[in-house]
Amino acid sequence: MEIVDFGTLAASRRADAAAILRDALAHVPSAYNGPGEAEAEVALRCAEEGWLGHAALEGERLVGWIGAIRTYSHGWEIHPLVVAPDCQRRGIGSALMAALEARARSEGVLTLFLGSDDDYGGTNLFGRNLWPDVVNHVATIEATARGHALTFYRRHGYKIVGLLPDVNGAGRPDIMLAKRLTTSRSSA
Ligand SMILES: CC(C)(COP(=O)(O)OP(=O)(O)OC[C@H]1O[C@@H](n2cnc3c(N)ncnc32)[C@H](O)[C@@H]1OP(=O)(O)O)[C@@H](O)C(=O)NCCC(=O)NCCS
Repeated sequence: MEIVDFGTLAASRRADAAAILRDALAHVPSAYNGPGEAEAEVALRCAEEGWLGHAALEGERLVGWIGAIRTYSHGWEIHPLVVAPDCQRRGIGSALMAALEARARSEGVLTLFLGSDDDYGGTNLFGRNLWPDVVNHVATIEATARGHALTFYRRHGYKIVGLLPDVNGAGRPDIMLAKRLTTSRSSA
């Protein structure tokens, strides 16, 4: 597997990136399922000032990609991170994350953050009213048998820093995660 700067990919590869985005998030109702939505998202990110990305290649095949938006002077938002469904659980997501974190460190970023939606039942928060004491629910979040990217991010040292209740519809929150970047490999 080889990790390359997304910007070095031929424009023709953008269709492959869109297909991975659509397929990897097919279980998420709010994500790029309509005709042309994934292609539009890729085009938007490629044209966006302040967006950067990395792509994972296996031979000629694009198998995953990660992006980030330079939102703050010292904080980047990860968006998106997707691995082709038939290539998951082989370390590709971890390699993409390592590349992004190295890039962020090299540019002086102190905090990486992201929102990870649960609008399909991937966690025990799905379907619940999280108001009024929203942050109290943070301590109790667990992935369900359906699985959620939360498990991946926790494995990589990301902490849950907040919840946005109902932003994908009643009982369908966005889970906010962040990681402190340090100069060592530790994230503590
Ligand atoms: C989340 C995602 C990017 C992870 O990529 P990946 O290449 O499959 O992840 P890795 O193989 O590097 O996994 C590293 C570790 O993360 C955890 N992990 C990854 N996917 C997991 C899952 N579905 N369920 C539970 N744990 C998972 C495991 O601990 C895994 O280590 P292990 O395989 O030795 O047990 C990928 O599964 C994906 O594209 N998912 C769909 C899209 C998505 O949810 N993106 C994030 C939106 S915020």
